[in-house]
Amino acid sequence: MSHPLSPLPLSPEGQQLVDRLLGEMTLDEKIGQMTQPEKNSVQPGDVARLALGSVLSGGGGNPEPNTPQSWRDMVTTFHEEALTSRLGIPLIYGVDAVHGHNNVVGATVFPHNIGLGATRNPELVRQIGRATALEIAATNVRWTFAPAVSIPQDVRWGRSYEGYSQDTEVVSSLAAALVEGLRGEAWNSSTSALPSVKHFIADGATTYGTSERVDRNALEVDRTLAIAQMGESLVELVDQGAWQLDQGDSLIDEATLREVHLPPYRAAIEAGALNVMVSYSAWQGHKMHGHRYLVTDVLKGELNFGGFVVSDWAGVDQIHPDDYDRSVADSINAGVDMVMVPFDAEKFIAALRGAVERGEVSGERIDDAVRRILTAKVALGLFAQPHTDPALLDAVGCDEHRAIARQAVRESLVLLKNAGDVLPLDPQAPALLVVGEAADDVGAQCGGWTVTWMGGHGPTTPGTTVLAGLRAELGEDRVHYSADGQAEGRFPVAVAVVAEEPYAEGMGDRTELRLSARQLDLLARVRPQCDRLVVVLLSGRPLVVTEQLADWDAFVAAWLPGTEGRGVADVLCGTYPFTGRLSFDWPRSHTDLPRTASSDALWRLGYGLMAQGVRDALTI
Ligand code: GLC
Repeated sequence: MSHPLSPLPLSPEGQQLVDRLLGEMTLDEKIGQMTQPEKNSVQPGDVARLALGSVLSGGGGNPEPNTPQSWRDMVTTFHEEALTSRLGIPLIYGVDAVHGHNNVVGATVFPHNIGLGATRNPELVRQIGRATALEIAATNVRWTFAPAVSIPQDVRWGRSYEGYSQDTEVVSSLAAALVEGLRGEAWNSSTSALPSVKHFIADGATTYGTSERVDRNALEVDRTLAIAQMGESLVELVDQGAWQLDQGDSLIDEATLREVHLPPYRAAIEAGALNVMVSYSAWQGHKMHGHRYLVTDVLKGELNFGGFVVSDWAGVDQIHPDDYDRSVADSINAGVDMVMVPFDAEKFIAALRGAVERGEVSGERIDDAVRRILTAKVALGLFAQPHTDPALLDAVGCDEHRAIARQAVRESLVLLKNAGDVLPLDPQAPALLVVGEAADDVGAQCGGWTVTWMGGHGPTTPGTTVLAGLRAELGEDRVHYSADGQAEGRFPVAVAVVAEEPYAEGMGDRTELRLSARQLDLLARVRPQCDRLVVVLLSGRPLVVTEQLADWDAFVAAWLPGTEGRGVADVLCGTYPFTGRLSFDWPRSHTDLPRTASSDALWRLGYGLMAQGVRDALTI
């Protein structure tokens, strides 16, 4: 039984259009609308021939060259082809713009969600949503797979940084703000972007060791993992704990699921979200991609969700790994409306057609799925305006958006230790020593989901580094830099910037969360060269630093700030105050993971020192 659609923003004319199209569509055209391949698996002519409803770029699914214009040209080609199909139903292109239009070189890259959680500033997140929508619209894209409303319980999880917070209310508030920002004036404006609230549900509550995504004893690099191009390092990462948590099993009870993990979906839907993405994870052993009770009865029924549900990347395949046909039937019957295939569209189409012909999937369920997809496309105004305004290309990476990102960086920083008020830095000090490769590394600032799936090091995309920011604030001649910590003489203060290696998804799961031996060597090398040592950590989550903390005079959590590293210098130098507060508990030791009511913490969620002595020069 299909559930009544929530009061969607459709006019009577819009509703009539949906009804008319549904009446005219063949079964294959309906299944085509439910099919979403990734762009490298689509040949010229496929979009029209298969009447595909959507195409996506996965992490790193970039055109060559990777420029805003070539992105727009690529997406426009898919749109144009869809309009030549028999019924000319517009296609919707999807991307992971999870911290800005992060796949595109030159786009503004905002702090990842863990940093935005520390700002507790919905208005700022709304502005980020608006700026992001404009930058993706510039490339003719109208759908982003964001916000993640994950509530990470075990920060050993490689997707912790995609979560705003471990506090449900913070997540609900910021998720709704992002949805409103992505919408802008109205969903049917060509500068709105369809949000995908993910990953439904309790993706952040999996138990360590329950993931079956990668078999340590039979390491098979499938097409998806191959995209990461990890090479030999995949073995090393698996030995460090990769794929132990992500896509695992959430063993929580229903009361916890409803109290902790469901409210952000309600908040996002009330804010107008028209798409939800299903989680790879399972709940109590039952894969979410085949979970009819939660996807249909709870999400579409209780929450009255009238939009459409999209699977995750090859998420359907995991329901019954040895029986694709059964997986397809079970996922559609559970309430999945569009399938992120992503590689073989025709195999999916044949499987679903067969399921309908065998009576395993009803025509009513197909019609319900297609109605939901068409309703969202009409609500977005895609029929009236299948293309956005190319003049928007000027918005990509523009000064106004970078200023918003820089403000977000400033408000995301959390001051966790400040012995003797070493911060803010003394602008009159004769010299400052800055050490660490991460001090001059935009890639390290951005982390995963930046240009490539895993992210990378160095100038991967235009931005300002922490070092460049400090030099701009204090003067080139007074800032001495040594990547490896070897410097001449002694300094009143040294700032050491250390960073986690970039990662995404289960590739970032770790058994232990510690600074590396190389980073500890750097800190040991710089310690005797300065009177006061300030440590700035660029990371996607808290690390266990309890043993090292006594050697540090000040400690700043900068999370993954994105392209505008100058925002870090703004606060270190006192031009702006520290206002950020932890949105996660900071574990004292590994025994505090996963976070439970009885786990200890070095600093609790909500903690953050407010540095005094802010210079009055607030006229920046
Ligand atoms: C990934 C992620 C999901 C993302 C999708 C498309 O595997 O789980 O968050 O939106 O595939 O890249």
